Amino acid sequence: MASAAEELVVEIGSLAACDPSSIVSLEELGKLEDTLLGKRSRLSEIKQALGSLPPEERKSVGKALNEARMSLSDILAARRCVLEDEEVRRVLSSERMDLTEVLGTPQVGHLNLVSQTRDQLEDVFAGMGFSVAEGPEAETDWFNFEALNIPPDHPARSMWDTLFLDVPGTLMRTHTSPVQIHLMVEQGPPIYAVMPGRTYRRETPDARHLATFHQIEGLVVDRSITFADLAGTIEEFTTAFFGSDIHSRLRPSYFPFTEPSAEFEITCAICGGAGCRTCSHTGWIELGGCGMVDPAVFDAVGIDPEEWSGFAFGFGLDRCAQMRHSIADMRVLISNDIRFLRQF
Ligand code: DAH
Repeated sequence: MASAAEELVVEIGSLAACDPSSIVSLEELGKLEDTLLGKRSRLSEIKQALGSLPPEERKSVGKALNEARMSLSDILAARRCVLEDEEVRRVLSSERMDLTEVLGTPQVGHLNLVSQTRDQLEDVFAGMGFSVAEGPEAETDWFNFEALNIPPDHPARSMWDTLFLDVPGTLMRTHTSPVQIHLMVEQGPPIYAVMPGRTYRRETPDARHLATFHQIEGLVVDRSITFADLAGTIEEFTTAFFGSDIHSRLRPSYFPFTEPSAEFEITCAICGGAGCRTCSHTGWIELGGCGMVDPAVFDAVGIDPEEWSGFAFGFGLDRCAQMRHSIADMRVLISNDIRFLRQF
């Protein structure tokens, strides 16, 4: 007949044989843990009764108890892992966002009107045989002023309210004219190029001005280029870009880098030439300047003015967009107002 100790060892063995695979929630598993290993569990009861067993039997029962507790802990911990993993998956999938979900018609963005205008102007000039070039926005004083026949202390410097950089002798370009200098220095004649880009001035924005704006520069250097070539090019561009209702006119002006120089104006598209707030009631809007390249500029870049001649022009790209679309106030171009931008 089995001793009490032997019976206890058998009972402990059967208590340790546990299969928790039917437990599906962490809460249920907690209860099972309590039943099997908790203070009021049968195993704890046996443990407390160990002291009353004869010393030689205590050892075998104690060993069986320890093994049972360890095995049960392992089995329950493994099940806990599985259930916790399932729980994490459930939470993640319930919080998942479907980023491919389309609500209504997707809104597709497009280039800002100024970029579109730049592309269109490039096309017009490409059609006339010009190539497109670009230059840096941060410039040295030499490219932005000196090589353009504007030495330090020249009063004409006040025509451009300049933003200077911390590095001495550098600035944010006030016009795209320094790209002319880059082309003449780096490429040499013959040159037929337009140079669009961003320009900067210390200026308070108003209906016709922005502090950060865009210009497009033009430069032709070849043999026997005359003022008639300049006037013809500007006329051609005006009708190609604005349509036949818009006329251009050149008025004598002064720029240090051209001689003779002219201001290039077009009919105000807002009022059709009648006069309005946007054109200061003149009927004309100044687009930019132009003229024959001054021999002093050719000297600065090492081109022989006896052999080569050329014309140059530069005008506001934002102003072109404004006139072409009859926009009364230029500041809306950079206002990020989607109602305005999506019209174009
Ligand atoms: N750079 C001048 C400005 O920003 C515009 C200009 C005038 C450009 C005459 C030219 C030019 O190329 O020949 O005011």
